[in-house]
Amino acid sequence: MRDVSAQAGPVAGKAEHHHIPTMAILKIARMGHPVLSRVAEPVADPRAPEARALVASMVETMIDANGAGLAAPQVYVPRRVVIFQAPPERMPEGVGEEEAFDHTAALTVLINPEIEILTSEIQMGWEGCLSVPGLRGLVPRYADIVYRGFGLDGQPIERRAKGFHARVVQHECDHLDGILYPQRMTDLRDLIFESEARHRMEAEAARQKEKANA
Ligand code: NI
Repeated sequence: MRDVSAQAGPVAGKAEHHHIPTMAILKIARMGHPVLSRVAEPVADPRAPEARALVASMVETMIDANGAGLAAPQVYVPRRVVIFQAPPERMPEGVGEEEAFDHTAALTVLINPEIEILTSEIQMGWEGCLSVPGLRGLVPRYADIVYRGFGLDGQPIERRAKGFHARVVQHECDHLDGILYPQRMTDLRDLIFESEARHRMEAEAARQKEKANA
């Protein structure tokens, strides 16, 4: 446990000290705080030291919280910045090396992102959110997208994404438009506590077995 209250300064504005690495584990806003419901503003200059400092703290915060992604509004900064990672272990089985690039992403910083949907195919998958702690939900997402944005060097980024990679990008970009995953859900019976997930999976497996034996 770390006390973050005394470390909120670097993001709030100590740009004159930007030669000193300024990183902090930030407090994460939870569902109900208005910063999570508003539309975030674009970043005027992705190369600005303030953007670099924000991203450094976001990365530290995400890793500390064991998250797959984080959006700036989640740390009370209403700007269009997201970070995410889609590690190979989240890749669906049977994906070849060539195709794997669509399904995985190393830690990515995306500023002023945009999403283009390439398919009408919807996939259901379980999601959690650091702003909705303790819960998980079954959420429909587009299976195949292209996303575009800018890195901290100001260079444009354009990538195709499928599977979990596409899911995490849609989840994080939704935060920039004030949308949390429960608002994307089609059946709230699939919004459950993480601590009950094991029981639910067991009950489902038993039902499947019954069906197979019938
Ligand atoms: Ni989230």
